[in-house]
Order: sequence, then C-alpha cells, then structure tokens
Amino acid sequence: MFEKTIFPLLFASSLFAIDGYEVYKKNCMQCHVEMMSKEYALQNFKKLKAPPMVEVSSRLKQNIKTTDDEEDVNRYLFILFVKDYIVNPNLDNSMCNTGAIESFGVMPSLKGKVSEEERQAVAEWLYDRYENISFE
Ligand code: HEC
Repeated sequence: MFEKTIFPLLFASSLFAIDGYEVYKKNCMQCHVEMMSKEYALQNFKKLKAPPMVEVSSRLKQNIKTTDDEEDVNRYLFILFVKDYIVNPNLDNSMCNTGAIESFGVMPSLKGKVSEEERQAVAEWLYDRYENISFE
C-alpha cells in the first residue's frame, strides 16, 4: 500500500525537480564566481563583476539569523530573501558593503528570465552548496 502510493510520487517529483546548480550556471555564473578565497577576491577585486557566490552565501547567513538559531527557519528566511532579490534587487535590500556597491553597481533584475521554480531551486542551492564553508 505504502509503496504503491508514495513511491510513484517521489519518483515523479525527482524527475521534474529543477537542479539549482544548473540554474546558477545558466543565470548567475557570468557575474558571480562560484568559489574564491577572500585573499584572491581582494587582490582581483577590479576584475570581478559581482561578489563571489561563496561570499554572498556566507554574508547572508550571518545577516539573516533568528535569535533562536533554528536552522530550518534560518534556511527558510535565507531562501525567501534570495528568491526576492533575484527579481527585486535594490540598494535598500543589499547587504553588500557600500564600497562593493560603488564598484559593482546594483545587480540587474532577472525578472522574466528565471521562473519561480528556478528561483526556489537556485536559492536552496546557494544555501546548501556552502554548508560549513565560510568566505576566508
Ligand atoms: C549581470 C550580473 C549579475 C547576474 C547575472 C547576477 N547577479 Fe547577483 N549580484 C550582482 C551584483 C553586481 C551584486 C552586488 C550588488 C548588489 O548587492 O546588488 C549582486 C548581488 C546579489 C545578491 C545580494 C548579496 C548581498 O549581500 O546583498 C544575491 C542574493 C545575488 N546577487 C544572487 C544572484 C543569483 C541567485 C543570480 C542568478 C539567478 C544572480 N545573482 C545573477 C550581479 C549579478
């Protein structure tokens, strides 16, 4: 009974699941480098188009934190922020420091270019990809 009803559902959802890393490679990688040390980033600042993803992920994790340190809640809020930022990037919401904003400018909106499902997938990827990895 269990196998008959649940298994096809799981199978179907994994078939159609969107891979967040693929979304990143298609829509974000041209500006955000996936992995880079802080030292290298500082030395090559002028060549970068945007903060490296490892930096974005670790900064957002530091800033988006509930007081009770609930991992699920923090991850959920992180994903909400990223999903929104992709389509509504703006100065007020950016957590980049002002020096970085001055040099990069504000991120252009990707509205109409990434679907809701793709935003969800890439936001989850951005959180999970850098688990236990900090920008240093
Ligand atoms: C055309 C270049 C470009 C593309 C493409 C791009 N970004 Fe950005 N992004 C930037 C720049 C520049 C900044 C830094 C300025 C700012 O915060 O808006 C930024 C900032 C961000 C921030 C906020 C960081 C913070 O600390 O506030 C997030 C989150 C982000 N990008 C996610 C993404 C995701 C996810 C994608 C792909 C779906 C993507 N970006 C595609 C240029 C880009």
